[in-house]
Amino acid sequence: MEKATHVKIKDISVSFGGIVALSAVSFNVHKGELAAIIGPNGAGKTTLFNCIFGIYPPQSGDILVEGKSVKNLKPHKIAEAGIARTFQNIELFMNMTVIENLMLGRHMHIGAGFMSGALFYGRACREEISNREKVEEIIEFLEIEKVRKMRVSSLPYGIQKRIELGRALAMGPRVLLLDEPTAGMNVEETEDMARFIIDIKEEMDLTIMMVEHDMGVVMDLAEKIMVLDFGLKIAEGPPEEIAKNPKVIRAYLGEEEA
Ligand SMILES: Nc1ncnc2c1ncn2[C@@H]1O[C@H](COP(=O)(O)OP(=O)(O)O)[C@@H](O)[C@H]1O
Ligand SMILES: [Mg+2]
Repeated sequence: MEKATHVKIKDISVSFGGIVALSAVSFNVHKGELAAIIGPNGAGKTTLFNCIFGIYPPQSGDILVEGKSVKNLKPHKIAEAGIARTFQNIELFMNMTVIENLMLGRHMHIGAGFMSGALFYGRACREEISNREKVEEIIEFLEIEKVRKMRVSSLPYGIQKRIELGRALAMGPRVLLLDEPTAGMNVEETEDMARFIIDIKEEMDLTIMMVEHDMGVVMDLAEKIMVLDFGLKIAEGPPEEIAKNPKVIRAYLGEEEA
């Protein structure tokens, strides 16, 4: 049976002044698929995520998630549509503890529902208990029990990246956008992160879109790859095809041998 399309990117164009960051890019990701987006610096990868997340309105085109347009939605509506993300540069509350950061992820998910729940003390209380349970599950899943009560700022970079992943998971998403999840990590941290991403996909049944520079990680994890270069989609396909595509080698993969 043909898998259902979960995220449909249709002819998206974005420019900043004279710079065309994305030019009529289309891409479909199926439910439960792990798709990677690769390309040189400045290719438009983060811009695509920012578009999906409603940060930049595309000049043309549309983005459909589960068949509904998410264009121009406010952040809490994006969360309600089941989309969560991590950032290329970590965005956490550094002076708060790990648990507090993850609990904020839960509250983002609850949105207006949480506020109205607060009118009914009993219900709010029950919600808080179930939020706490969900957060503890994620902490266990990501193996960060030992640091759960520590301030994020006191933790190593690799663990901070894992906590950011935890915050996104705490939102209970159906689509997860990961912007360079292994950037700046050493070999061991990269392997851990790759393993967590595989486990998330398999155990939580999420659709994942991942921007990633480490080609080892991309080739191991991705079922489908889109290659961007100067805002244009220059290739799309399974990893084994992308790896030997001459255009891709010229624009991107060749870089690594230089
Ligand atoms: N907020 C912005 N204002 C102006 N230019 C931007 C902005 N965001 C991205 N760009 C430009 O758009 C292009 C694509 O950037 P980006 O999506 O961050 O690339 P990538 O993530 O692939 O490295 C770059 O030329 C970048 O300078
Ligand atoms: Mg980027």
